[in-house]
Formats: sequence, structure tokens, C-alpha cells
Amino acid sequence: MVGLGMIFDDTYRPFFERAHCEGLYRRDFGLVDIELAAVATKTGSRAERYRQQSAGRIAPFASFAGNDALSQLLRHGVDAVCIATPDDRHFEAARLALEAGKHVLIEKPSVLKLQELDVLEVLARKHNVLAKVVYHKLADPDHKKLRTHVADGVLKHVNNGYCSLLEPKEISGSQFAEWIQGRNPGTYVAVHYIKLIDFTFGPNWKLARIAATGQRGLVGPVSGSTWDSVQLQMVYAYEDGREAAFDIHTSWVTPDNFPGYVEQEVQFRFDNGVWNAHQRKRGVEMTVEGRTPHELKNTPNHHYNGMFLEPWGERSQRGYGIEIIQKFFEEVAYVDYGGAKEGRAQRLEEMRRLAYNDVSADRNTVAVVQALEAILQEHAAGRPGCIVEVNGKEGGLALRRPGQQNPIVLYEGSA
Ligand SMILES: NC(=O)c1ccc[n+]([C@@H]2O[C@H](COP(=O)([O-])OP(=O)(O)OC[C@H]3O[C@@H](n4cnc5c(N)ncnc54)[C@H](O)[C@@H]3O)[C@@H](O)[C@H]2O)c1
Repeated sequence: MVGLGMIFDDTYRPFFERAHCEGLYRRDFGLVDIELAAVATKTGSRAERYRQQSAGRIAPFASFAGNDALSQLLRHGVDAVCIATPDDRHFEAARLALEAGKHVLIEKPSVLKLQELDVLEVLARKHNVLAKVVYHKLADPDHKKLRTHVADGVLKHVNNGYCSLLEPKEISGSQFAEWIQGRNPGTYVAVHYIKLIDFTFGPNWKLARIAATGQRGLVGPVSGSTWDSVQLQMVYAYEDGREAAFDIHTSWVTPDNFPGYVEQEVQFRFDNGVWNAHQRKRGVEMTVEGRTPHELKNTPNHHYNGMFLEPWGERSQRGYGIEIIQKFFEEVAYVDYGGAKEGRAQRLEEMRRLAYNDVSADRNTVAVVQALEAILQEHAAGRPGCIVEVNGKEGGLALRRPGQQNPIVLYEGSA
């Protein structure tokens, strides 16, 4: 495990603790033992804290810290590496892990540039391992149902939509304070919806252009490169010439006492229908004196991740955020233990074809992220209003600046 932050605690930790206790079983690969063997972090202090808190719930694990932590972890004999470091530190860790022949799972967004994605794809193929990305919203039952309706033709031809994801100030002010300099909330969270849209409504369309703007002045200086909120628009073109446009709004400066710890809403409009969804307002509303809305949430999302006292007396932590981590380990177990050795290459190909998490299917998402980052960088340098054209005559990603004849080519190959 590389990085032991918030997302480790929410999803990986409960998965590893359950796997330690129960193993992972499926008829095709049998019983597979999964242990958190080693962790790499910046300072080692979170690993130490976790070691103390987790006694008895997990096997002893090695902890490496500092600049050489990852190489030490890779030499420790691990089979798979999960990367949950800040988003601009995914690539290097993933590259080294794949070069060492390990299966890799990367938190979203996989990487920030198509050039980096290309490297990871080549390495995964060269070393015959899986390289996958976590987009847990694809496993949300509401999103699964949306995709099912689209696949079954109940909802026909999406035309446009909006998504918003708002986080409290505490995220930018304390949780991410260490790495937030020069970053924006779009790359980190809009990516959930970029992927949801791309995966749910594709692949019979082409990404066409990306535009974005944002606001500064709260997390950092008004003329700086750290963003408070971001508004992104991406446009897809269908083969018949029709287009679909999606606006994704994100912020990490919402007041700490606003009703949702994370406020998430979508609306998609189709030729024959409208889909509205709210991640928190799924039926539960609760008040506890002195504890809501900070320690306990007013409108909690128990589907993502919740701690429960099961009817049969057991304490559990479950939800789609954990389910999606387990799925990766099932895929690894299937490749390595799901049949005879001679069939491994075929099983590997089968798992690579899963477009919900394979890096090879992450091109559109990374293209939007790369475009967004470049547009915001130009904006911060005093040149707002750029757009990125995808697969036009100048290249895979061409950044067009107002008043300038020639674009900057961000990615030359086919995006
Ligand atoms: N799937 C989701 O909804 C979701 C939610 C939150 C975060 N994330 C993703 O998870 C990643 C981490 O986010 P977080 O919220 O856990 O962040 P965090 O700031 O809470 O934790 C980051 C962790 O990475 C470690 N780290 C930083 N640089 C490192 C390096 N060079 N080598 C090794 N370890 C390093 C830190 O020590 C810390 O343990 C991000 O990519 C983020 O986008 C995903």
C-alpha cells in the first residue's frame, strides 16, 4: 500500500482487515490469502498509528518511509501494489511498481497526462500484469441502474447534463493542506463524473472539446495557481453529428457546517427522459444533539461505506467503496490462480477488457484531466478562456488560446 491517507482508511483498510480474517474465495480461484504486507508513506507516522490501532485485525506489516520507501516496498516481495498518494504522485509510483512486475491498482485519477498513461499501458503489457484504476462511483447501485437503463434502451441518447460535487473547507484547509499547493478540486473529484459519463454513455461517441474556468482567493492568493472551485465542460460528438455536453462543478471551500460533508448531485437529460440523483438524499435524515452535522452527518450515504451492527451480531464495514477494491483483488486472483498456468495470458486479456477499471480504457478521462490542468495553468498565467480540441488536425489534444493563431499541442498522438 503506497499512501495511508483518508481513502486508505475509508476503503482499503476495511478490505484488508476482512481479507485477513476471511481470505478471498471464489470457486474458480479457490481460497486466496490476501495480506497487507508492506506500506510506504512519506513520514511513517500514519503507518505507526495504524499498526497500533489495528493490532489483531491485521497481520504484522513492514513500514517504509521517506524517499526510498517505494523501492524498499517493492523489494519486500509484494504481489500487488495499491497507490493512494496525492494525484500528482501516482505516475512515478505506478511506473516503478509495474517495472518491478507487480499488479497495480491506482486511485483516481490514474495519471494526469496521456503520455504517462501510455507508459503505464506499455509496462503492464510488457510485464504481463494488471494496471487498474479505482472509480468507486461506477459501483454505486444508482449509477449501476443508470447504466443498466442506458444499456437496455430504457433511457435513449443522452444530450446533456450537470454534475456537482462540493466538499467542505476542512478538506482544502487541513486534510489536504500538505499537497494542495498548485492543485484544483476538479482533477481530484470531477474525475469521478468524467469517468461515470464516459463509461455509462460511451463508447459510441468521440470526445470533442474541453473548456474550464474556476475561482481563486480562499485556499491561496487570487492570482496564484491553487484553485477554490472549478467549472468544467466537456463535449462529445456522436457519429451522426449530434453532440452531448456536460458541466461538472467542484469546490473544496464550502462552509464546514453545510448539510453534506460531500454534496453530490447529477442530472442527465436524454431524448426520452431525465435522470436526477442525489448522493446523500436517499432517504435518511438524522439529528443528534451536539454531534450532527460535524461528527455524524445529517444525510449520510450508507451505500458508499458504513459501519454496521449486523442483525446476526457481527460488526462490519461495507459498501461499494470497499466492494470495488475487492473486485481488483478478485481480478488478480483470477489471473494468477483461476486455472492452469497455460491459460494465464488469456485470463489476463479477459481482465484487461474490463473497461470500468483498466488503464487502457482510461484515455478519455485522462485526456479531460490533462486538458483541464492545462487550461487552468494558462488561466493562472493570465490567459483565461482556453479550450482544448480533441483529435483535431493539430493533434490529439490541442490547447487553443483566445487571440492566438497557433495552438499548444499537449498530446500529439491520437487521444
Ligand atoms: N475514490 C475516492 O473517492 C477518493 C477519495 C479520496 C481520495 N482519493 C484519491 O486517493 C488519493 C489519496 O487521497 P487521500 O484522500 O487518501 O489523501 P491524503 O492526503 O489523506 O493521504 C495521502 C497519503 O499519501 C502519502 N504520500 C504522499 N506522498 C507520498 C509519496 N511520495 N510516497 C508515499 N506516500 C506518499 C501520505 O503520507 C499520506 O499517507 C488521491 O489520488 C485521491 O484522488 C480517492
